[in-house]
Amino acid sequence: MCGIVGYIGVKPVKQILIDGLRELEYRGYDSAGIAVLQNNTFSLFKAVGKLVNLEEKAKNFETEGFSIGIGHTRWATHGKPTELNAHPHLGENSYVVHNGIIENYQELKASLMAQGVQFLSQTDTEVIVHLFEHHLKTASDAFDAFKKTLVQLEGAYAILLINSNESGTIFFAKHGSPMIIGRNEAGEILFGSSDAALIGKCHEVIYLEDGHYGYGSAKGISLFDQNHQPVALRFSPLAENKLSAQKEGYRFFMEKEIYEQSRVLADTLMGRLRDESVYFEEIDPELFQGINEIKLCACGTSYHAAMVASYLFERHAKIKTSVEIASEFRYREPFLTQDTLFVVISQSGETADTLESLKMAKKFGLKTMVICNVDNSSMVRLADASILTRAGIEKGVASTKAFATQVCVLWMLSLSLAGERHTLEASEIQNQIHLLRTLPSTVTVDSALHEQLRRLSKRYLHGHGFFFIGRDVFFPLALEGALKLKEISYLHAEGYPSGEMKHGPIALADPKLFTIALLPQHKLYDKTKSNIEELSARDSTICSISPLDFDKADDHIRTKPSEHYMCEFFEMMVVLQLLSMEIAIRLGNDVDMPRNLAKSVTVE
Ligand code: F6R
Repeated sequence: MCGIVGYIGVKPVKQILIDGLRELEYRGYDSAGIAVLQNNTFSLFKAVGKLVNLEEKAKNFETEGFSIGIGHTRWATHGKPTELNAHPHLGENSYVVHNGIIENYQELKASLMAQGVQFLSQTDTEVIVHLFEHHLKTASDAFDAFKKTLVQLEGAYAILLINSNESGTIFFAKHGSPMIIGRNEAGEILFGSSDAALIGKCHEVIYLEDGHYGYGSAKGISLFDQNHQPVALRFSPLAENKLSAQKEGYRFFMEKEIYEQSRVLADTLMGRLRDESVYFEEIDPELFQGINEIKLCACGTSYHAAMVASYLFERHAKIKTSVEIASEFRYREPFLTQDTLFVVISQSGETADTLESLKMAKKFGLKTMVICNVDNSSMVRLADASILTRAGIEKGVASTKAFATQVCVLWMLSLSLAGERHTLEASEIQNQIHLLRTLPSTVTVDSALHEQLRRLSKRYLHGHGFFFIGRDVFFPLALEGALKLKEISYLHAEGYPSGEMKHGPIALADPKLFTIALLPQHKLYDKTKSNIEELSARDSTICSISPLDFDKADDHIRTKPSEHYMCEFFEMMVVLQLLSMEIAIRLGNDVDMPRNLAKSVTVE
C-alpha cells in the first residue's frame, strides 16, 4: 500500500528516487510524486497515474552535488487520485510523504483551519506538514517541532519530512507502517517503505520498530524510541541480489510468477524433506508442546491458504484447527485459550489486520508463529517463530506463487505435526513426502495447456457471472480462483462449496452463468460430479477441470492423472491462475496493476 523512498547524498537524486519508486510501484500506482531540496530550494513533481507520467514531467530536471529528496507512489485512501492529493504534500516550507492512515486527521485539520491554515488536498497526510509548521513557530528547532507533531498523531504511519531551513536533513518516523533506513560505503543514506527499494544501493539497513523516529543527514542517522531515548543503530546486511528481475520475456509479472512456481516450490521444499519426516530447522519442537488447537489467521489469498491448512491439519495431525479472517478476528472479541497456537499467514508480513491480530494474540499470551514470504517483515520480527515460504519477490498484485508456496509449507507442516503426534502411519507420511517432491514438476506449465486456456478464454468474457465450485480443499481453491478472476478481469465471480449450490445459488443458473467446476479424481469425485450435473441440468455453461472425462460440461480442461488429491490441487491451481490471466488480458486489463488494488495492504 503506497511506497516511500528518500535519499541523502551527492548522486543525481531524481533518478535514485524514481528507481526506488519503480520497485514499489506495484504497491500503489494511482499517482506519484517527488520533492527535492537543494541549497534551500525545493523542486516538486507530481503526476496522476503510473510512474512513467511522473518521469515524463520531471524529464528535464537534474541536480548536481549534494541534495536530499523524498518520493511517494500512492494508493488512495483519503481523497481521489488527483495531483493535489498526490504526495509529497506542502506546507509553507516543508514537504511530507506518508504511508498509513492518520485516524484523528479530521479533528487536527479542524483545529488548524480554525487558526487560519489552508488545506489544498483531501488527504489525511496534509495535516502532518501543517501541524509540523504550526509547532515550528514555537519549538526550539525543527526536530523539536517534528517530535511535537508525532505526539499528536493517531493511527498508522511511516513518514518522511523535509524542511527548507534544514536543507540537509530528512526527518522520519514509523508507527504501524514499515520504514527502513539504509546506508552505503559512499556515505549515502536511503529510506524506503520496503527493502526492495534499497537493494543494490545500500549494503546495510535498519528495520525501524514502531515508535522509532529521528533524522538523517550527511553526518549520519539519529534514532529515538517512543520514550524519546536514543537508540543504538543496529544495521543488518541487505541482500545484494536484485531479485526483482525484469519480466524476462513474459507479458506480465503475473505470468512470469505463474511460470516460476516450479522453481520456487523446489526452493520451498529444499532442506525440509527427509526420507521419513518433514523438518523445519527454524521451528523449535517446544513450540507445539501443550498445544491442543491451532488458530490460523490471514487475509485474502493467504486466508484461502489457511483454509486449505484447516483441512490438512485436522486430517493429518488430528488437531483442532480454526481459521479466521484477520479483519473480523480483531474486532469480534474472540474467546482464546492458552493451549492455542496462533498462526498468521502473510505474503508481505505487513498486512495491517493480520499484524494487529498477531499483536492481539501475543498480548493474550498465546504462542505465535508466522508463515511469511518476507524475511525481516514486521510479522516475522514479532512472532515467536517463523517459516519463510521462499517464493521470492512477488510483483503481480494478484498473488500466485506466494499462494503456492504457502500451501506447500502448510502441507509440510501438517505432515511434520502428524509425525510428532503419531497421527498418520509412517508409510503414509513417506508417501506424501514423495508427492511433495513431485510438486515442482506438477506445477510446471505445459505449453499446450496454456494455449488451450488462451483459446478458451475468449468464450468467457461476457455472461452475468462466474461460480467456481469445489469440495474439501478444492473449496478454498474455488474461492481463490474466483478471487483471481475478479481481481484482474473485474468480472463478478464467487467461490462456493459444490454441495452448497442447491441451498440458494443454483437459482442463478442459466446459460449466461459460467461455472468453473473443480472435479478431482481423488477427493469426493462422485459427490462433486453430481453437484455439477445439477448445474448442467439447469443449463449453466460449465467448464470442468478434471483428469477424467466429463460429458456434461460445455468445455473440459483435462489435467494430468496423478496419485493424490493434493497433486490435483496444485495442477488445478495453475489452470485457474492461467485462465484468469488470459481472460483479463483479452479484456485489455493491466494484469499486474489491476484497478483499485495494491500489494501489501498496510491500512485497515
Ligand atoms: C490477492 C491478494 C490479497 C492478499 C491479501 C493479504 O491476490 O494478493 O488478497 O493475499 O491482501 O496479503 P498478505 O498475504 O501480504 O498478508
